[in-house]
Amino acid sequence: MKIMICGKGGTGKSVISVLAARILSRKYSVYLIDSDESNTLLPDILGAPRPKPLVEYLGGRGSIFKSGEIDIVRALSKAGRGIALKDLPSEYVSKSPEGIRLVIIGKVRNFGEGCACPLNYLTRTLLKNLVLNKDEIVLVDTDAGIEHIGRRVEEGTDAILAVADPTAESLKLAKTLKDQFKPLNRKFWLVLNKATPEVASIMIEKAGKMGLEVNGIVGFDEKIFKSCLEGKVLRAGKSMLQMENLLKAINLL
Ligand SMILES: Nc1ncnc2c1ncn2[C@@H]1O[C@H](COP(=O)(O)OP(=O)(O)OP(=O)(O)O)[C@@H](O)[C@H]1O
Ligand SMILES: [Mg+2]
Repeated sequence: MKIMICGKGGTGKSVISVLAARILSRKYSVYLIDSDESNTLLPDILGAPRPKPLVEYLGGRGSIFKSGEIDIVRALSKAGRGIALKDLPSEYVSKSPEGIRLVIIGKVRNFGEGCACPLNYLTRTLLKNLVLNKDEIVLVDTDAGIEHIGRRVEEGTDAILAVADPTAESLKLAKTLKDQFKPLNRKFWLVLNKATPEVASIMIEKAGKMGLEVNGIVGFDEKIFKSCLEGKVLRAGKSMLQMENLLKAINLL
């Protein structure tokens, strides 16, 4: 299964991705794809070395639109069609102590180097053409907001896990994601993050009025907050169990 973790900036997409990857790695072979063109924290909180960005294997951002989807698939696939995760070149995949594999699509770093469109296109092509074994699961930590919707990156995913924090804007964005994703007829889940019990009940009521079902709640966790601030491997307290409950509720465990 391929799952995109989406939501407003700062809601906790990367944190939720790492928590989910850790828990799911007990049952699946987990690949975490970093498709955020800006932020760079993910390898640090995952505890994995930084692999080379996959876009470089394909000749850099400038080459992506020159080569079409077929060329990208050919370059990444041993069989010439369908991309198997185990076939991705080894320098472009790293591994966390739990065995979670990390792939970074690419980052924008330099003044005037251009927009993130080629990176989104590469993510979409990769997701659409990935052929997974039954024991493999792919989590995609996306960039903030919904730019990826405009690029139809969602065409390649089986599900969206939207992350909302205690802000009206993040619920609104989750609603937009749900509505835009609906025609694709795939799974959509919502997790509330950083919510105290009191705030969670306000959010659940608000979400309900917007036609959003809440599938899980991850509370504010001091350990998460501090490890993120230090830029160190993610430590978590009770949120680990809350994440496990969410994964059970959506039948991934
Ligand atoms: N459950 C939590 N408890 C406490 N703090 C949290 C929790 N989840 C996330 N945070 C805090 O929120 C910050 C943002 O989290 P994270 O980087 O995962 O968000 P994001 O949605 O990936 O952000 P971006 O849109 O910038 O990629 C973290 O640095 C951490 O301080
Ligand atoms: Mg992030």
